Amino acid sequence: MKVVGGSASVPLAKSLVRELSAGYVDVAFEKHPGGFPDGERYVRLLGPVAGDHVILVQTTHPDPMIVEFLLLADAIRDAGARRITAVVPYFGYGRQDNRFLEGEAISAKTIAKHIAVDCDELLTMAIPANPDILRTFPIRAREVSGMPALGRYFKSANFDALLAPDEGAIRHVKQASAVAGVPFDFLVKERIDSYTVRIEPKALAVKGKSVAIVDDVISTGGTIATAARELRSQGARRVTAACVHGLFVDNAEANLKTCDEVIATDTIQSPHTKVSVAPEFAAAIRALG
Ligand code: R5P
Repeated sequence: MKVVGGSASVPLAKSLVRELSAGYVDVAFEKHPGGFPDGERYVRLLGPVAGDHVILVQTTHPDPMIVEFLLLADAIRDAGARRITAVVPYFGYGRQDNRFLEGEAISAKTIAKHIAVDCDELLTMAIPANPDILRTFPIRAREVSGMPALGRYFKSANFDALLAPDEGAIRHVKQASAVAGVPFDFLVKERIDSYTVRIEPKALAVKGKSVAIVDDVISTGGTIATAARELRSQGARRVTAACVHGLFVDNAEANLKTCDEVIATDTIQSPHTKVSVAPEFAAAIRALG
């Protein structure tokens, strides 16, 4: 088994190599130092993959990382790989799983269709859409949970309670809570627009406690900031923001100042990446058979 990491996911790919005791195939991402002036991607495999089962690890965000994924998959297939497993830690364009208005693209399906051209199967994590969309993909596709990884972190750092900032996050926080052995509660969120959310008033047992707000994605940080203010107003001693996918766009860093600590996994590499989901993906790869 060999692992190839796209430039969005090199640290996670290298952690997977250690978990799986696999080989690592280096990739050159620039033809000339500095890359192409117009920003086009370039890839060149620097080792053989003929006859191998290759694990291609690449988050499809931001957009150029999708192109890079496709270039790598094509190069790996042309180089004679026997089987290609796509590990897409964060599935960019995974939000839209339905045609709500005539003429719309079902973006999650669009990306999957292109991944399936060269890959035999797909593993991803906390896809922003309803995970049922995976069953409509043209290749076998499975969602792997990152919550055990966050749960292990919560356990080691002695948190008192976990909080889902909305009902959608309950399925995630439940898993983290089971691993950490820490109770959880949830808020009910109403989204006003892309930047503004409102939460329903609710009494929380958080006075004097260290609480982690657990979400699948932090984008603008609006959801977390609203939940953090509620926790503070109800007397929480310490507030941590934790997510699987840290996109941190727009005013996220300012919004996250409402928290004492921010934790994200390595599905998207950022200064807040403190937890690796490599053990979760390694277990899922072994289970593929
Ligand atoms: C959707 O509800 C997701 O679970 C997240 O809560 C949401 O994407 C976070 O977005 P933002 O950080 O912009 O509030």
